[in-house]
Amino acid sequence: MLIRRCAILVFEAREHLEFDLATLFAGDQALAAACRWVALAAHLDAEVELSDAELALLRSVGESLWVERAPLDQAYGAEAVDAMLRAGLLLAFEGGPGDWRARDEAVRESHWRPLPALAHAFSRWSGQDVASDPRLSRFKTIRDMVQAFGPPPPETVARGPAAARVALPAPAAGPLDGPLFGRYTGRNYDPAGAVPLATASRLLQRTFGAQQVREIAEGTAALKKTSPSGGSLHPIEAYVLAQRVEGVAPGFYHYHPVAHALEPLQALEPAAARAHALAFVAGQEWFADAPLLVVMAPRWRRNFWKYRNHAKAHRAILMDAGHLSQTFYLLAAEAGLPAFVTAAVNEIDISAALGLDPVRDGVIAVCGCGPDSGEQVTVEYR
Ligand SMILES: Cc1cc2nc3c(=O)[nH]c(=O)nc-3n(C[C@H](O)[C@H](O)[C@H](O)COP(=O)(O)O)c2cc1C
Repeated sequence: MLIRRCAILVFEAREHLEFDLATLFAGDQALAAACRWVALAAHLDAEVELSDAELALLRSVGESLWVERAPLDQAYGAEAVDAMLRAGLLLAFEGGPGDWRARDEAVRESHWRPLPALAHAFSRWSGQDVASDPRLSRFKTIRDMVQAFGPPPPETVARGPAAARVALPAPAAGPLDGPLFGRYTGRNYDPAGAVPLATASRLLQRTFGAQQVREIAEGTAALKKTSPSGGSLHPIEAYVLAQRVEGVAPGFYHYHPVAHALEPLQALEPAAARAHALAFVAGQEWFADAPLLVVMAPRWRRNFWKYRNHAKAHRAILMDAGHLSQTFYLLAAEAGLPAFVTAAVNEIDISAALGLDPVRDGVIAVCGCGPDSGEQVTVEYR
């Protein structure tokens, strides 16, 4: 059998501290430290803990050339080789377990840079509920947090004496002031409120739609949008979860930026749409009643086609999402609606619901908007 290692693999050393009563009674340090090695691979959904033999085996197999299995069995034991094939860290040329080889090929074809690929893959959530996150839920208010940690770094920083400052004139009023000042993160949506079709149409087209399509090389078109995009590639696709958009049945849709149309993916009963909305935003009840939600999902390869194995490519795509969400906020404000964006999302569940393959299509954030309920149950900064 011919085998090789997967393309993107990092070994992480992790220390595990344990309270050791026996050592304490012997009069020594009460904490015992154990070091373990964990493998993080971009085509896997979970990390893999390694034994010393498995670590040595993986260190000796390259990612490019296919090599015979037999000498590895002899040097490291057939058990270690089998375990690594099952885990997907070693890949069989043919006849291996699972679909690891195909998934690894997809990573190779995407031209991912290793560290961002792993940072993205291993910061994804499934089934997370922010309300039950013990790191956050022990604090009810910011005051509790300040009490526990002390105040955060100050809200501004001065880099010179006040006397040396160059005072600037007061800004003149301008046409963007209305939406800029009207924008705020809404956390109290009217559970019966709907977004008029005309508003949804303008929001989607002016945020995610193509304002122009231009052929820039043979068979290669560039889209012009209202937000900038790294390399002008606009890799972020918009997937709509419509709960209450007038004239649009509840369900999942893909927004086509040139056709300016919603492509139906799955119709949903209103209760199911609400349950998906809540799961998408990781249990943040204050966003789940927004009648219109939009998942920002990049096609990695669209950007990595130009920025192959590039140190800044992933960062540029995250920034694209930031620009789009601000444009979305401003258009919502223009329509008199509060909006939100959140990165605290269950990417794995969103991908499954929308039928996206996470190696090819990512999920970065979810934004949404809708009429305000008129109550202030959850804090907002208006
Ligand atoms: C990248 C990003 C992630 C955010 N994630 C959350 C979130 O998970 N939950 C939330 O309630 N608000 C979230 N917000 C909204 C911020 O909390 C909000 O912008 C901030 O409190 C300032 O309020 P304002 O938008 O009304 O000015 C996020 C904003 C950004 C830009």
